[in-house]
Amino acid sequence: MRHPKQAKQLVDRFGRTVDYVRISITDRCDFRCVYCMSEEMTFLPREQILSLEEIYLLAKCFTELGVGKIRITGGEPLIRRGAIGLLQKIGALPLLEELVMTTNGSQLATTATQLRQAQVARLNISLDTLDADKFKELTRTGNLETVLQGIEAAIAAGFKGIKINAVILKNRNHHEVTDLVQFALNSGIDISFIEEMPLGIISSHDRAEAYYSSDQIRADLAKHFHLEHISETTAGPSDYYRVQGRQTKIGFISPHSHNFCSTCNRVRLTTEGRLLLCLGNEHSVDLKAVMRAHPNDSDLIKQTLIDAMEIKPEKHEFDLSEQPIIMRHMNTTGG
Ligand code: GTP
Ligand code: 5AD
Ligand code: SF4
Repeated sequence: MRHPKQAKQLVDRFGRTVDYVRISITDRCDFRCVYCMSEEMTFLPREQILSLEEIYLLAKCFTELGVGKIRITGGEPLIRRGAIGLLQKIGALPLLEELVMTTNGSQLATTATQLRQAQVARLNISLDTLDADKFKELTRTGNLETVLQGIEAAIAAGFKGIKINAVILKNRNHHEVTDLVQFALNSGIDISFIEEMPLGIISSHDRAEAYYSSDQIRADLAKHFHLEHISETTAGPSDYYRVQGRQTKIGFISPHSHNFCSTCNRVRLTTEGRLLLCLGNEHSVDLKAVMRAHPNDSDLIKQTLIDAMEIKPEKHEFDLSEQPIIMRHMNTTGG
């Protein structure tokens, strides 16, 4: 953390303080992961998405209201033209404590050093399998080798933290959890296992059938590693463990089996400029409309953000056995 904290002014009806914002800078992606997208996707036209200048102004307003952590997401954030320049500008905001990013790793081999120079402190990189054919099957268009090279480049660039994100699906990659942990241990990085969430209609599998709980993963890992629960957090939803005697943290993000909504500290900015108050609900405020009606009015933006806290829902209502109630795919919010 780089600076003394700014007074935190975003507090919701349940007394939760919002000091973490996740900003999706593009809904486009070079992958089509089966749990995230359908095979055929239509992306937003350019005039509907926030400009880089608009994103920067919003990021600045958030920091002035006590938001210390900003995570840049997508789609794949690094395929938006100008992404690195934007990261440099956000990374230099005087009141920001930590700039972090979630990426699929496809562009890291060539950008990791620039990202580190742009003050990106930590990276979360998606990696669901170490098998090249399976990787192609799960991402539809991705290449495992490119991502592994990207991870290597990120390790060499000296980030404060690198975490692998693995979404685990029964009968597709659940038998790889031990190998993925071993990969994290060998690379000296962290890993989180994620239960799939029902966002948007997908065609490749039945989400209820593919459910593989964090408890099952932990039981599988316990056959090979001695896991100890630890109290460290990254102000995110992961519950962390450590292999005895090793630095690597193993996180479990369990929206179904261990609900973490009561400690929620975050809101999201969608690609088209909606302030989304919960990943699992549609409560939102159209910040783009406010900004385009009143350009550069930071005071109005900040008051709109403070007022929006009134409609932050208490919790998500994910139910894998029903048709998704949230029709938006994960790529418009970045998770
Ligand atoms: P740090 O804890 O800061 O490292 O980040 P993170 O693990 O929260 O972020 P990342 O972007 O890597 O997201 C990992 C997974 O957590 C994704 O599947 C997100 O959708 C999920 N996630 C993050 N925040 C929330 C949340 O508030 N609610 C739910 N249900 N899932 C979340
Ligand atoms: N459920 C859970 N995680 C998902 N991700 C994308 N779609 C889903 C989903 N439906 C993950 C990605 C990435 C992170 C931001 O969210 O794998 O690691
Ligand atoms: Fe792209 Fe990430 Fe969605 Fe995969 S999960 S399609 S990498 S946005």
